[in-house]
Amino acid sequence: TPLEQQLKDLESFQVIAHRGASGHAPESTMAAYELAHEWGVDYLELDVQLTSDGELVVFHDDAIDRTSDGDGSINDHTLEQLKALDTGTWFNETNADKANVAFEGAQILTLKELFERFGHDARYYIETKSPQLNPGLEEALVEALEDYEMIENGRVLVQSFEQDSLLKVRELNEHIPLIQLVWYSPNEEDNGRLVEWTGITPAPTEITDEDFQAIAAYAEGIGTNVTYNGEDVIGADFISQAQENGLPVHIYTINETDEMQRLREWGVNGLFTNYADRLLELED
Ligand code: G3P
Ligand code: CA
Repeated sequence: TPLEQQLKDLESFQVIAHRGASGHAPESTMAAYELAHEWGVDYLELDVQLTSDGELVVFHDDAIDRTSDGDGSINDHTLEQLKALDTGTWFNETNADKANVAFEGAQILTLKELFERFGHDARYYIETKSPQLNPGLEEALVEALEDYEMIENGRVLVQSFEQDSLLKVRELNEHIPLIQLVWYSPNEEDNGRLVEWTGITPAPTEITDEDFQAIAAYAEGIGTNVTYNGEDVIGADFISQAQENGLPVHIYTINETDEMQRLREWGVNGLFTNYADRLLELED
């Protein structure tokens, strides 16, 4: 079945376009997804949040200030208010070399618009962002995935840093493949000891097979950072241990070709990147 094929593909290597082709076009806009889709990536990555009137929109930050001409929290705005914003001009202003007049006035994208555009001709790697700020997010997302028949067609992965959010999704529909995101960083108050802030696993040096098994009980894979301020926080041994416990590993967010090459050699199962074009070139 298409779902079985999708799970099989997770064992190989996946090119994941982080917020679309966001190195070349404004993140999370149709222009960014069009470009990544043209390149033929394995997954379009996106974050979903809820508007004040309950619509699912593709948007990363909790606040709209950085990537639009509005301000305040995304959840305090209706879809109509958000649609009036320009989410493209900021990109032209901060990326003079990639500026394009076509990006001006780019509108916030709804999940449905993205699904209408690419349908089953793409795979979607969807993050439930800030679940505590978006009550009802999981219900709305699963409903959309079911309406568009994304699950049985092997078109979707749902990812989250919040274990509770993933468990909620699983409760709503047990067939949706889930990816547990983790983030390792040094804890200044603890002499720089490495910790994982989502509290799903202990520090990388202390992680056991049982810890990976606990994740494998509900998730199909793990997404993690590898470096913090240029220093490695996990190694190739972490990757192989996860894999031995049945968890493919995807690394975020890798934009430099030499870093892509290095992690390929570690045998990771996929990379999130703003420059999927660079990664696809390596794959050739
Ligand atoms: O979802 C993987 C990666 O995107 C997590 O970080 O902040 O870019 O959503 P963020
Ligand atoms: Ca994300």
